[in-house]
Amino acid sequence: MNLFSFVPARFLHSSPAGRGPDEFRRGNASRMLEPGQLSAGIELPRRGRRLNRGTLNCARPAAGWKMLAAGIFVLLVLSLPCALYAANNADCLACHADKTLQNAAGKSVAVDGDTFHASVHSGLSCTDCHSSVKGFPHPDHPAAVQCTTCHADQTKGLEGSVHAAASPGGCLSCHGSPHAIFPKDDARSAVYPLNIPRTCGTCHGSERLAKKYGLQNVYSVYMDSIHGYAVSKEGLLVAANCMSCHGSHHILSHKNPKSPTYKANIPATCGTCHGGVNDEYLGGVHGKAVASGNMKAPVCTDCHTAHAILQPTLATFRMQSTPICGSCHQGRFATYGDTFHSQLGLLGGYVQTARCWDCHGAHEILPASDPRSPVAPGNLIKTCGKCHADANASFVQYQPHANPRNRRLNPALYYIRLFMNLLLWSVLGFFALHTLLWFIRSKREQDRNGHAGR
Ligand code: HEC
Ligand code: HEC
Ligand code: HEC
Ligand code: HEC
Ligand code: HEC
Ligand code: HEC
Ligand code: HEC
Ligand code: HEC
Ligand code: HEC
Ligand code: HEC
Ligand code: HEC
Repeated sequence: MNLFSFVPARFLHSSPAGRGPDEFRRGNASRMLEPGQLSAGIELPRRGRRLNRGTLNCARPAAGWKMLAAGIFVLLVLSLPCALYAANNADCLACHADKTLQNAAGKSVAVDGDTFHASVHSGLSCTDCHSSVKGFPHPDHPAAVQCTTCHADQTKGLEGSVHAAASPGGCLSCHGSPHAIFPKDDARSAVYPLNIPRTCGTCHGSERLAKKYGLQNVYSVYMDSIHGYAVSKEGLLVAANCMSCHGSHHILSHKNPKSPTYKANIPATCGTCHGGVNDEYLGGVHGKAVASGNMKAPVCTDCHTAHAILQPTLATFRMQSTPICGSCHQGRFATYGDTFHSQLGLLGGYVQTARCWDCHGAHEILPASDPRSPVAPGNLIKTCGKCHADANASFVQYQPHANPRNRRLNPALYYIRLFMNLLLWSVLGFFALHTLLWFIRSKREQDRNGHAGR
């Protein structure tokens, strides 16, 4: 039983302007606008049928009733100062709870009252949001709801973001059905951490949208990554979802220096969770270079990618990591390519062989001249010893980047290579000449025998 049911409906609902009095005169008694009664006694609109608005409005009460009603009304006015003129949720739901209710265009205008009353807005009255609905009958298309009235911060955040113009659904494109909004830490919320990828994915998993805006289709790639796996398969709340790296309302393009995904800001963004790795990275040459503005040096995503992050222990990552370092260190990549380690890795697909970071480290990479570097002369036995248990001082004389083409740096190798090349070519040359002479001789013999035979 709700309070308003004691009040004659006409006090609850002001008649909208522009309607003739006859339209609002129907029936013969002053009816209490009680939800049950409304739906029981009054013909509800059916699918595709327009509402006969008169049915909702009550007839003028008889004189005696008038006095009593006015008395109750005044009492209620005194106890409930302003809520009185707002319609009760049950009143709206009397019609809108009907699952078949449609508007003239055939679109459902049904509202699930149970869901709404479980939602975060359950404390609101329908008309707090639909503030242009002042009574019954209400206009066919009440003014659009302005979330900003109550959520100015989020609305402001959205302004100037990548989605300000692009997402036509406004707030609802991410928050879902307007009557089923839940607190962000409720598993039913569209922006609950584990649901965010799917929510963003409704658009960012679409080929059509990707093409239209020239963006990558990141959703499926993300879902296959370590973070996507952790979120979707392990339900790990602390793993990175889209929002962890992009923010929620004020999302900016990665070309914008204020964006958390702008190159210079990426270490800090990943570092909010990977604090230890970030500290190591900042202590190494790459981190120092980026911090001092040298954007040629790599940040986390240059080596790990942004959305396709793999577990570094996976063979796939081990195999692709060397060319990544090599994309910037082309000279070192080439010399590494000549070594046993690389040949094994590239030709044989051998995963356990030494990759760049097995010797240099991955994050706190230091120049070889720094005594803390794993490739500093004093640390080589330990570094090579990770895989070569018998590594000793003479073993580590082996040069992982030996460049036999450089006579100044590697004179011995240079001459060995020169000698080997000379040997190779002279052997090849000798056999080529040998074959040629052999061929001429056999041709001649053939000709001679042929003449003799005829
Ligand atoms: C007597 C039944 C009835 C009651 C009571 C009623 N409505 Fe409606 N409402 C309708 C019908 C029917 C439509 C579809 C109008 C049309 O034909 O387009 C509608 C449409 C709407 C729409 C617009 C949908 C659109 O397509 O734009 C909103 C919003 C709405 N109602 C909100 C409310 C609110 C809020 C209340 C309570 C204050 C309320 N209604 C009470 C019957 C009702
Ligand atoms: C938090 C604000 C909010 C509250 C509270 C709210 N609505 Fe809505 N409602 C919306 C928004 C937003 C829309 C989408 C259309 C628009 O922007 O006007 C909508 C749409 C509607 C529609 C059109 C059909 C649809 O689903 O798109 C109806 C009917 C409706 N609301 C009825 C109600 C009723 C009845 C209540 C109370 C039980 C209610 N609303 C409470 C925000 C709200
Ligand atoms: C691009 C998707 C997106 C859009 C568009 C969007 N939101 Fe959000 N919203 C989110 C995410 C994600 C969260 C969760 C934030 C968190 O967990 O910290 C959120 C959280 C919220 C919260 C909870 C408080 C907070 O800030 O954490 C409110 C309130 C909110 N949004 C209102 C709105 C309103 C109002 C609009 C429209 C002006 C809107 N949102 C548009 C994604 C969006
Ligand atoms: C009449 C004021 C009002 C309007 C209009 C309104 N809200 Fe709310 N909203 C609230 C209140 C009050 C809460 C509950 C805050 C709380 O419990 O901490 C809330 C909570 C929320 C939350 C959950 C916040 C959280 O902590 O996770 C979201 C999301 C949200 N609103 C989105 C919207 C969206 C989207 C719209 C527009 C469709 C909207 N609101 C319109 C008053 C409003
Ligand atoms: C671990 C951090 C991280 C996560 C998680 C993440 N992103 Fe990104 N995203 C980035 C970075 C960094 C960029 C900048 C471009 C780059 O490095 O590829 C980016 C770029 C983008 C772009 C622009 C791509 C382009 O073609 O220019 C979109 C769209 C995007 N992300 C959407 C998403 C969505 C949707 C999700 C969730 C499914 C998500 N991101 C999850 C870090 C992340
Ligand atoms: C309603 C569809 C829609 C939803 C939902 C949506 N986006 Fe977008 N998003 C877009 C469109 C469209 C663009 C392109 C805007 C432009 O370039 O003008 C965009 C752009 C972006 C960009 C900028 C790409 C760049 O660097 O230029 C990022 C990042 C992004 N979205 C992340 C997200 C995240 C994170 C979420 C979820 C919290 C999300 N989006 C939800 C439609 C959507
Ligand atoms: C919101 C916190 C968060 C953010 C931000 C984040 N990550 Fe993660 N990341 C995690 C968690 C949690 C795991 C562990 C997942 C698991 O083991 O299932 C993880 C796993 C990883 C792994 C695999 C580690 C391993 O040992 O298998 C890599 C690599 C990684 N993240 C890189 C990044 C990069 C690069 C960024 C920034 C672009 C980033 N992460 C941003 C939380 C985060
Ligand atoms: C120069 C390339 C490069 C950069 C830059 C880089 N990483 Fe890595 N990262 C790697 C490699 C290679 C591994 C594998 C190391 C291993 O398994 O020993 C790795 C491993 C990881 C791991 C797994 C745990 C571990 O320590 O082995 C995480 C998490 C991670 N990186 C996060 C990050 C974050 C966060 C950043 C930015 C602050 C970053 N990485 C910058 C190449 C890089
Ligand atoms: C995006 C390009 C890029 C990638 C990828 C990259 N580096 Fe670098 N690296 C640089 C730049 C630029 C410097 C010079 C930094 C400075 O000192 O200003 C550097 C410096 C170094 C140094 C110190 C050399 C010196 O002369 O001081 C070593 C060692 C190194 N990188 C190893 C690696 C390894 C190992 C990887 C892969 C795990 C890698 N780099 C990936 C760009 C890159
Ligand atoms: C087997 C161990 C090992 C592997 C694998 C390896 N390096 Fe090295 N790297 C070294 C050693 C030892 C030095 C120092 C001696 C020298 O300069 O040749 C060095 C030197 C360097 C330097 C110069 C450092 C400085 O301070 O001058 C760079 C840059 C470098 N390596 C990059 C790479 C890259 C890129 C890869 C992978 C393509 C790689 N390294 C693979 C052991 C290795
Ligand atoms: C990540 C493991 C790993 C690291 C670190 C590593 N190697 Fe290797 N190395 C291998 C593997 C695997 C082979 C091929 C199998 C074999 O013959 O032992 C190999 C082969 C070699 C060979 C040729 C075959 C042999 O055993 O004589 C030499 C020489 C060599 N490594 C030197 C070095 C030196 C010097 C270092 C340190 C600067 C080093 N390696 C660091 C894994 C590694």
